[in-house]
Amino acid sequence: MKIVMLGAPGAGKGTQADRIAEKYGIPHISTGDIFRANIKEGTELGKKAKSYMDQGLLVPDSLTIDLLMDRIAQADCKNGYILDGFPRTIPQAESLTRALAEKGEKLDYAVNVDVPDENIVNRMGGRRACLKCGATYHIAYAAPKAEGICDKCGAGLVLRDDDKPETVQERLTVYHDQTQPLIEYYEAEKILATVDGTQDMERVFQDIIAVLGA
Ligand code: AP5
Ligand code: MG
Repeated sequence: MKIVMLGAPGAGKGTQADRIAEKYGIPHISTGDIFRANIKEGTELGKKAKSYMDQGLLVPDSLTIDLLMDRIAQADCKNGYILDGFPRTIPQAESLTRALAEKGEKLDYAVNVDVPDENIVNRMGGRRACLKCGATYHIAYAAPKAEGICDKCGAGLVLRDDDKPETVQERLTVYHDQTQPLIEYYEAEKILATVDGTQDMERVFQDIIAVLGA
């Protein structure tokens, strides 16, 4: 199964993608996580990506598309994958459609997790992220077992650099300008499913499962 997660920053794409990946036994691929891992390791790509991410802007397509194409060509992707945070622009979506078509493949679903802007800023301030394994927590809604420590890998949790309220606002603007048009793109491809992302995490997950099938 090949799935794309759509939704505003903080809509819960990463939270749901993790659970879907586990249920269907497919890799969860987040371009944001890949960039953050590169930033942590101090790679050239990380240095370039950070200058955009810290401002709430998108990393240019020229750095993002090849990275994602290389990732989905790896062996663990042969039975499918769930993409979280890619595509984020029409050129990214077109590149993906084209690359899949060349292999006679296509996406199965684009799941849009719908959350209005007013709910987002509140969620982001409470988020805590593990930069080592990509796990996501919330101090009120999804707290780790031990404060500040990742349940999955034991690394320290941090507030992401781009989760400051003014940066979140810019990310929302960028989302509406550049990423929201993908909803129409996948609607036209007849693979769009929208779920209400304001519900609690379990309900959102159940709604997604109802679309994807058991
Ligand atoms: P990325 O890491 O993809 O960030 P994002 O899209 O802004 O989304 P987030 O990770 O912030 O939110 P999410 O939807 O995953 O929500 P989460 O599950 O954490 O990208 C970061 C940056 O990298 C971009 O700004 C860009 O610069 C760059 N980038 C990445 N990909 C790119 C691309 N393809 N092209 C160009 N640039 C790219 O949930 C949020 C919080 O809410 C958590 O604390 C969670 O616990 C909580 N929560 C989740 N669900 C619920 C619920 N139902 N109820 C209550 N709380 C909930
Ligand atoms: Mg995420």
